[in-house]
Amino acid sequence: MAKSKVLYNCQECGASQSKWSGQCQSCEGWNTLVEELDDAAPTQGLRKGISLAFTDLSSVCENPPRFLSHITEFDRVCGGGLVAGSVVLVGGDPGIGKSTLLLQVAARLSKDLGVYYVSGEEAINQVRMRAERLKVKDSKVHLAAATSLNDIITSLEGTKAGVVIIDSIQTMHADSIAAAPGSVSQVRFCTQALIRFAKKRNIIVIIVGHVTKEGTIAGPRVLEHMVDAVLYFEGERGHQFRILRGVKNRFGATDEIGVFEMTQEGLQEVLNPSSLFISERDDQISGSAVFAGIEGTRPLLLEVQALVAPSAFGTPRRAVVGWDNNRLAMLLAVLETRCGVNLGNRDVYLNVAGGLRIQEPAADLAVAAALLSALTDQPLPKASLFCGEVGLSGEVRGVAHLEARLKEAQKLGFESAYIPTQGSSKIKMTATKSLEIMRLGTLQELASFFNTKAQNTSQNQPDSKILEEQKKYG
Ligand code: TYD
Ligand code: MG
Repeated sequence: MAKSKVLYNCQECGASQSKWSGQCQSCEGWNTLVEELDDAAPTQGLRKGISLAFTDLSSVCENPPRFLSHITEFDRVCGGGLVAGSVVLVGGDPGIGKSTLLLQVAARLSKDLGVYYVSGEEAINQVRMRAERLKVKDSKVHLAAATSLNDIITSLEGTKAGVVIIDSIQTMHADSIAAAPGSVSQVRFCTQALIRFAKKRNIIVIIVGHVTKEGTIAGPRVLEHMVDAVLYFEGERGHQFRILRGVKNRFGATDEIGVFEMTQEGLQEVLNPSSLFISERDDQISGSAVFAGIEGTRPLLLEVQALVAPSAFGTPRRAVVGWDNNRLAMLLAVLETRCGVNLGNRDVYLNVAGGLRIQEPAADLAVAAALLSALTDQPLPKASLFCGEVGLSGEVRGVAHLEARLKEAQKLGFESAYIPTQGSSKIKMTATKSLEIMRLGTLQELASFFNTKAQNTSQNQPDSKILEEQKKYG
């Protein structure tokens, strides 16, 4: 056998290079290259293969059987249940709740399928104790604590396994690879072996992968292209909400999210997340706006909070949690240049309540409303909702799924919705009764509304400080 070549694999992006350097040439990460043997190097020429039976694309398509965990939030993110023969990667920060979620899923699936849960991180007793807390102790899940992939696959050969859960891929190792567990070549090789096993036996394999910022453990990113579906489990440690987000799915739609709440008894589904995310909101406080977002196919109402404070330093601070920094900078520039709102000497803080992250540009209008409200110390109209993208000239642009967003707002008792003029004629009136629709063509219209309101209240409020502020900034 030819001697294996040494390669330097980036533990972050998986790129290989033949020479070591401090920085990966592909992802530009520092200190991420680790020496590993190139096991993929061919040792022989291509042998003669068997001929394949090609088939017509147009022949009858059989829908693959799907297995439901009956945890609705999980099933939806999987595209309507798990498909036999598919490999699903569940990624997320350590401690976010991946093992908890999968133990709950395992317990539910064990009613219909043979479920094998292999933990490489916890001892059997630890898993049992957790199961007790989750009240799933009596389910028929087969447990093992193991890290050798050879052992795992050999042991599964003789069983009627329908689902295999590997927790986590970073702890697994195969004998034929010299590299340490958690390195790119181990993680990649083990995943490949598991994929082959899943396809051969037509079983579901769920792989847990930790996402780490350090270069010491290979991130699941190197596996994303290999598996059939990738789900990320996210959330802020300090918050009890957890979001399961589908980022890739060969058997269904992506961008779906499932919302869970971490409780003493494990993860509970949140079936109506909108009411939850805005439940602690106070209508009477300035700087708070509600945005109707879309996550996958689901409308979701969120609270955007802004705080504008005089800046103590020459360069004002801009801090954002749950939204894009650059987008805030852009919106502030549009407010200053197009609407004449002076924010140059003020610190701006923006927060999306509940620890969620908004990725849609449609949140621009809600952010602008929250900022204007915070700046003028004017609460927004009671039970109002904002939705629209803002362009560089200050125009309010149309957004997709407007009707679904409005329906959700209506369901939760909202009274008015500020939406883009563009595309608003298409919404059916049946969907909008009891919800007053306010159409905005430009951001200037929204800003002018604040100016007039600011003057009105300044008469009611004899606070000279606020009056002065409003003269200056209003
Ligand atoms: P875990 O599932 O072990 O995370 P991961 O597998 O992603 O590393 O989750 C661990 C956290 O979840 C831990 O901080 C405690 C918390 N937790 C609860 O709050 N309630 C519970 O019922 C369980 C099982 C865990
Ligand atoms: Mg775990």
